[in-house]
Amino acid sequence: MASNKILMIAIVTVFLPTIAMATTYIVGDSSGWTINFDYQAWAKDKVFYVGDKLVFQYPQGVHNVFKVNGTAFQNCTIPPANQALTSGNDTIVLATPGRKWYICGVANHCSDYGQKLAITVQYSYGWAPAPTPSSPWAPAPSVPTTPPTEPWAPAPAPSSPWAPAPSVPTTPPTEHWAPAPAPSSPWAPAPSPYPWI
Ligand SMILES: *[C@@H]1O[C@H](CO)[C@@H](O)[C@H](O)[C@H]1NC(C)=O
Ligand SMILES: *[C@@H]1O[C@H](CO)[C@@H](O)[C@H](O)[C@H]1NC(C)=O
Ligand SMILES: *[C@@H]1O[C@H](CO)[C@@H](O)[C@H](O)[C@H]1NC(C)=O
Repeated sequence: MASNKILMIAIVTVFLPTIAMATTYIVGDSSGWTINFDYQAWAKDKVFYVGDKLVFQYPQGVHNVFKVNGTAFQNCTIPPANQALTSGNDTIVLATPGRKWYICGVANHCSDYGQKLAITVQYSYGWAPAPTPSSPWAPAPSVPTTPPTEPWAPAPAPSSPWAPAPSVPTTPPTEHWAPAPAPSSPWAPAPSPYPWI
Protein backbone atom coordinates (compact mmCIF):
# COMPACT_ATOMS: atom_id res chain seq x y z
CA MET A 1 0.00 0.00 0.00
CA ALA A 2 1.47 3.29 -1.08
CA SER A 3 -0.04 5.15 1.83
CA ASN A 4 1.53 2.74 4.34
CA LYS A 5 4.92 3.25 2.74
CA ILE A 6 4.52 6.97 2.87
CA LEU A 7 3.36 6.83 6.46
CA MET A 8 6.44 4.79 7.33
CA ILE A 9 8.72 7.28 5.61
CA ALA A 10 7.02 10.08 7.48
CA ILE A 11 7.50 8.29 10.79
CA VAL A 12 11.14 7.50 10.07
CA THR A 13 11.74 11.10 9.05
CA VAL A 14 10.13 12.43 12.20
CA PHE A 15 12.05 10.09 14.47
CA LEU A 16 15.30 10.08 12.52
CA PRO A 17 17.22 12.18 15.05
CA THR A 18 16.25 9.74 17.81
CA ILE A 19 17.13 6.63 15.84
CA ALA A 20 20.44 8.01 14.64
CA MET A 21 21.65 8.52 18.19
CA ALA A 22 23.81 5.52 19.06
CA THR A 23 23.17 3.73 22.33
CA THR A 24 25.85 2.13 24.47
CA TYR A 25 24.78 -1.03 26.29
CA ILE A 26 26.65 -2.42 29.26
CA VAL A 27 26.09 -6.15 28.73
CA GLY A 28 24.37 -7.50 31.85
CA ASP A 29 24.06 -3.95 33.20
CA SER A 30 25.47 -3.82 36.75
CA SER A 31 26.17 -7.57 36.72
CA GLY A 32 28.49 -7.17 33.75
CA TRP A 33 29.82 -10.13 31.75
CA THR A 34 29.72 -13.10 34.07
CA ILE A 35 28.52 -16.66 34.62
CA ASN A 36 25.01 -17.68 35.68
CA PHE A 37 23.35 -14.66 34.13
CA ASP A 38 20.44 -14.88 31.68
CA TYR A 39 21.73 -12.78 28.78
CA GLN A 40 18.80 -13.76 26.58
CA ALA A 41 16.43 -12.24 29.11
CA TRP A 42 18.66 -9.17 29.28
CA ALA A 43 18.57 -8.73 25.50
CA LYS A 44 14.93 -9.64 25.03
CA ASP A 45 13.38 -6.19 25.52
CA LYS A 46 16.14 -4.27 23.75
CA VAL A 47 16.30 -3.21 20.12
CA PHE A 48 19.86 -2.93 18.84
CA TYR A 49 20.64 -0.70 15.87
CA VAL A 50 23.66 -0.43 13.65
CA GLY A 51 25.97 2.05 15.36
CA ASP A 52 25.08 1.00 18.90
CA LYS A 53 27.83 -0.32 21.17
CA LEU A 54 28.11 -3.30 23.48
CA VAL A 55 30.50 -3.06 26.42
CA PHE A 56 31.55 -6.30 28.08
CA GLN A 57 32.80 -5.56 31.58
CA TYR A 58 34.49 -8.18 33.78
CA PRO A 59 37.58 -8.60 35.93
CA GLN A 60 40.45 -9.01 33.48
CA GLY A 61 41.58 -12.64 33.21
CA VAL A 62 38.39 -14.09 34.74
CA HIS A 63 36.42 -14.00 31.48
CA ASN A 64 36.91 -13.02 27.86
CA VAL A 65 34.77 -12.33 24.79
CA PHE A 66 34.66 -14.12 21.45
CA LYS A 67 32.46 -13.09 18.57
CA VAL A 68 31.29 -16.34 16.99
CA ASN A 69 28.76 -17.61 14.46
CA GLY A 70 25.48 -19.28 15.28
CA THR A 71 26.86 -22.79 15.08
CA ALA A 72 29.71 -22.06 17.47
CA PHE A 73 27.26 -20.24 19.74
CA GLN A 74 24.96 -23.27 19.93
CA ASN A 75 27.81 -25.61 20.60
CA CYS A 76 30.01 -23.26 22.65
CA THR A 77 32.87 -23.85 20.22
CA ILE A 78 35.79 -21.70 21.40
CA PRO A 79 37.73 -20.01 18.56
CA PRO A 80 41.55 -19.62 18.62
CA ALA A 81 42.67 -17.67 21.68
CA ASN A 82 44.19 -14.87 19.60
CA GLN A 83 40.63 -13.84 18.56
CA ALA A 84 39.57 -13.10 22.12
CA LEU A 85 38.86 -9.71 23.61
CA THR A 86 40.47 -9.65 27.03
CA SER A 87 40.62 -6.07 28.33
CA GLY A 88 37.78 -6.47 30.85
CA ASN A 89 36.13 -3.42 29.27
CA ASP A 90 35.65 -4.60 25.71
CA THR A 91 33.64 -2.29 23.48
CA ILE A 92 32.12 -3.72 20.33
CA VAL A 93 30.50 -1.40 17.78
CA LEU A 94 27.55 -3.07 16.08
CA ALA A 95 28.65 -2.26 12.55
CA THR A 96 26.30 -4.40 10.48
CA PRO A 97 22.71 -5.55 10.80
CA GLY A 98 21.81 -9.17 11.48
CA ARG A 99 22.25 -11.82 14.12
CA LYS A 100 25.34 -11.52 16.37
CA TRP A 101 26.68 -14.06 18.85
CA TYR A 102 29.17 -13.64 21.71
CA ILE A 103 30.51 -16.23 24.12
CA CYS A 104 33.03 -16.44 26.92
CA GLY A 105 35.93 -18.72 26.03
CA VAL A 106 37.24 -19.30 29.53
CA ALA A 107 36.94 -22.89 30.74
CA ASN A 108 33.33 -24.09 30.40
CA HIS A 109 31.68 -20.74 31.16
CA CYS A 110 29.72 -20.90 27.91
CA SER A 111 28.64 -24.53 27.93
CA ASP A 112 28.00 -24.99 31.64
CA TYR A 113 27.23 -21.50 32.97
CA GLY A 114 25.36 -19.87 30.11
CA GLN A 115 27.86 -17.08 29.52
CA LYS A 116 26.68 -16.39 25.99
CA LEU A 117 24.79 -13.57 24.33
CA ALA A 118 22.85 -13.56 21.04
CA ILE A 119 21.29 -10.38 19.64
CA THR A 120 19.78 -9.12 16.41
CA VAL A 121 20.99 -5.79 15.07
CA GLN A 122 18.53 -3.69 13.06
CA TYR A 123 19.16 -1.21 10.30
CA SER A 124 19.25 2.36 11.44
CA TYR A 125 18.53 5.20 9.04
CA GLY A 126 21.37 7.28 10.34
CA TRP A 127 23.98 4.62 9.68
CA ALA A 128 22.52 2.60 6.84
CA PRO A 129 24.02 2.68 3.35
CA ALA A 130 22.18 4.57 0.65
CA PRO A 131 18.71 3.18 0.06
CA THR A 132 18.41 0.60 -2.66
CA PRO A 133 15.19 -0.63 -4.24
CA SER A 134 15.66 -4.01 -2.58
CA SER A 135 15.64 -2.59 0.92
CA PRO A 136 12.25 -3.12 2.49
CA TRP A 137 12.19 0.41 3.85
CA ALA A 138 13.27 2.14 0.63
CA PRO A 139 10.70 4.39 -0.96
CA ALA A 140 9.28 2.79 -4.06
CA PRO A 141 10.18 4.81 -7.15
CA SER A 142 6.82 4.06 -8.69
CA VAL A 143 4.83 6.12 -6.20
CA PRO A 144 3.56 9.09 -8.20
CA THR A 145 4.40 12.49 -6.74
CA THR A 146 1.99 14.44 -8.91
CA PRO A 147 -1.60 13.65 -9.72
CA PRO A 148 -2.18 11.91 -13.02
CA THR A 149 -3.43 14.11 -15.83
CA GLU A 150 -6.48 12.12 -16.77
CA PRO A 151 -9.38 14.55 -16.95
CA TRP A 152 -11.54 12.37 -14.78
CA ALA A 153 -9.07 12.10 -11.90
CA PRO A 154 -10.32 13.75 -8.75
CA ALA A 155 -8.07 16.11 -6.84
CA PRO A 156 -5.96 14.41 -4.11
CA ALA A 157 -7.83 14.12 -0.89
CA PRO A 158 -6.62 16.89 1.42
CA SER A 159 -7.53 15.01 4.61
CA SER A 160 -3.99 13.75 5.36
CA PRO A 161 -1.57 16.68 5.32
CA TRP A 162 1.51 14.46 4.91
CA ALA A 163 0.22 12.29 2.09
CA PRO A 164 1.38 13.53 -1.31
CA ALA A 165 0.09 10.52 -3.19
CA PRO A 166 -3.07 11.05 -5.15
CA SER A 167 -5.67 8.43 -4.60
CA VAL A 168 -6.14 6.97 -8.04
CA PRO A 169 -9.55 5.43 -8.45
CA THR A 170 -9.61 1.98 -9.96
CA THR A 171 -12.79 2.82 -11.81
CA PRO A 172 -13.54 6.27 -13.16
CA PRO A 173 -16.39 8.11 -11.63
CA THR A 174 -19.47 7.95 -13.73
CA GLU A 175 -20.59 11.53 -13.89
CA HIS A 176 -18.22 12.76 -16.65
CA TRP A 177 -17.95 9.98 -19.14
CA ALA A 178 -21.12 7.98 -18.57
CA PRO A 179 -23.41 7.88 -21.57
CA ALA A 180 -26.45 10.02 -21.35
CA PRO A 181 -29.55 8.22 -20.14
CA ALA A 182 -30.89 6.07 -22.93
CA PRO A 183 -33.56 7.78 -24.95
CA SER A 184 -36.94 6.26 -24.68
CA SER A 185 -37.25 3.10 -26.67
CA PRO A 186 -38.36 3.69 -30.22
CA TRP A 187 -41.28 1.34 -29.75
CA ALA A 188 -42.52 3.07 -26.66
CA PRO A 189 -45.71 4.95 -27.21
CA ALA A 190 -45.10 8.63 -27.57
CA PRO A 191 -46.59 10.73 -24.85
CA SER A 192 -50.08 11.45 -25.82
CA PRO A 193 -50.58 14.98 -27.03
CA TYR A 194 -54.01 14.67 -25.51
CA PRO A 195 -53.37 14.18 -21.79
CA TRP A 196 -57.10 14.23 -21.12
CA ILE A 197 -57.58 10.98 -23.05
C1 LIG B 1 31.32 -21.15 12.37
O1 LIG B 1 32.62 -20.93 12.87
C2 LIG B 1 33.43 -22.10 12.91
C3 LIG B 1 34.75 -21.71 13.53
O2 LIG B 1 34.60 -20.86 14.60
C4 LIG B 1 33.59 -22.62 11.51
O3 LIG B 1 34.35 -23.83 11.54
C5 LIG B 1 32.23 -22.91 10.88
O4 LIG B 1 32.39 -23.29 9.54
C6 LIG B 1 31.37 -21.68 10.95
N1 LIG B 1 30.03 -22.00 10.49
C7 LIG B 1 29.37 -21.25 9.63
C8 LIG B 1 28.01 -21.70 9.27
O5 LIG B 1 29.86 -20.22 9.17
C1 LIG C 1 29.57 -29.76 19.02
O1 LIG C 1 30.38 -30.15 20.12
C2 LIG C 1 30.55 -31.54 20.23
C3 LIG C 1 31.32 -31.83 21.51
O2 LIG C 1 32.31 -30.85 21.72
C4 LIG C 1 31.26 -32.06 18.99
O3 LIG C 1 31.40 -33.44 19.06
C5 LIG C 1 30.43 -31.71 17.76
O4 LIG C 1 31.12 -32.09 16.60
C6 LIG C 1 30.17 -30.22 17.72
N1 LIG C 1 29.27 -29.92 16.64
C7 LIG C 1 29.48 -28.89 15.85
C8 LIG C 1 28.44 -28.67 14.77
O5 LIG C 1 30.44 -28.15 15.93
C1 LIG D 1 35.57 1.40 29.36
O1 LIG D 1 35.87 1.92 28.06
C2 LIG D 1 35.21 3.11 27.73
C3 LIG D 1 35.61 3.47 26.32
O2 LIG D 1 35.37 2.40 25.48
C4 LIG D 1 35.59 4.20 28.71
O3 LIG D 1 34.87 5.37 28.41
C5 LIG D 1 35.27 3.74 30.11
O4 LIG D 1 35.73 4.72 31.05
C6 LIG D 1 35.93 2.41 30.41
N1 LIG D 1 35.51 1.94 31.72
C7 LIG D 1 36.35 1.35 32.55
C8 LIG D 1 35.75 0.92 33.84
O5 LIG D 1 37.52 1.19 32.28
